[in-house]
Amino acid sequence: MSEDAIPQLSGYSEAELDRAFAAISREVAASAAGLQTPEAVEQFRLQWVGRKQGRLKAISDAWLKSAPASAKKLIGQRFNTLKAEIEQRLDAADSTKHDGAFHADAIDITFPGGRRNPGSEHPLIKTLNELVAIFQRMGYSVGVGPEVETDYYNFESLNFPPGHPARDTQDTLVVANQDRKPLRDRLIMRTHTSPVQIHTMEQQPPPVRIVIPGKVHRNDAADATHSPIFHQLEGLCVDDNITFSDLKGTLDHAMKELFGSSVKTRFFPSFFPFTEPSADVQISCPFCGGKGCRKCKYSGWIELLGCGMVDPSVFGFVAQKQPAYDPKMISGFAFGMGIDRIAMMKYGITDISLMYSGDLRFLEQFA
Ligand code: DAH
Repeated sequence: MSEDAIPQLSGYSEAELDRAFAAISREVAASAAGLQTPEAVEQFRLQWVGRKQGRLKAISDAWLKSAPASAKKLIGQRFNTLKAEIEQRLDAADSTKHDGAFHADAIDITFPGGRRNPGSEHPLIKTLNELVAIFQRMGYSVGVGPEVETDYYNFESLNFPPGHPARDTQDTLVVANQDRKPLRDRLIMRTHTSPVQIHTMEQQPPPVRIVIPGKVHRNDAADATHSPIFHQLEGLCVDDNITFSDLKGTLDHAMKELFGSSVKTRFFPSFFPFTEPSADVQISCPFCGGKGCRKCKYSGWIELLGCGMVDPSVFGFVAQKQPAYDPKMISGFAFGMGIDRIAMMKYGITDISLMYSGDLRFLEQFA
């Protein structure tokens, strides 16, 4: 059919043009009738819209180009309609394709249904949610804070002055091109969730009871137990007359809730610039009951978190904005724990990178 010559137009009246285009349109319909294989569709495409031999081009040459200026618009409109009709036929033929196979019908009722697996919580998020829920039951609220921090919030206001050696324990990823700013305003990736303690206190007067889960960043080389991104849960409690026994009772209860009521806690003196006194908390090994096993390196105890009484100098920084944080009037405790480490322990995960791999074979084990 494609070889058929284009008939001459016998005039340029609208009626004559309608008749001529209708005849072509019938041709299109006839040749589109059997488009059930990719080859047939390709053949149709070449026959009608092929650049050199296509009939559309021939129609344009025979009718449009030689037409008097007064008729060009009428022919052009009809030509465009015809072209759209051909493209529509091609689209319809293409859309009956399914997964590379060609079907006469768009729906193949024998095709196996697609399986939609329900998602499940990532072990890290599961642990985070459990921890948060434990503190919520004790009346704590939940907060968040920015992951990009200023030097002031990440360090200075937490009593790490510039050049303080405690900064070296948190190898910091810095944002580029900050050198012209004063040190305290330079942007860095937060190395811990503790800066959110300061944001929280600046925004509300005491009392405060809050936990803050979140992502933190350190310039640590990745290995089985280190990842440059990991997660912490920060806690802060400020009121009048908060004591170290409140801290001990709160954390002891939280660990029993998380690991089971037979777990014991013990507190060792430690150092953090923003707490005084500071302590590291160990729990009796939940796997061997304290007898000693591989998980606790045969010591019976596992170190899990840091804590302490909020240092009066931290209240001093906050009091510049919220005078109610007068260390003579109030006191508080804070704690921080690594969520990844706790999740790894709970679920027997030996390589932290699995947490961030997105590997379904790993994740499906926790579904
Ligand atoms: N920010 C500390 C760290 O990243 C963890 C920490 C220790 C947080 C003691 C606290 C705390 O709130 O009281 O290593």
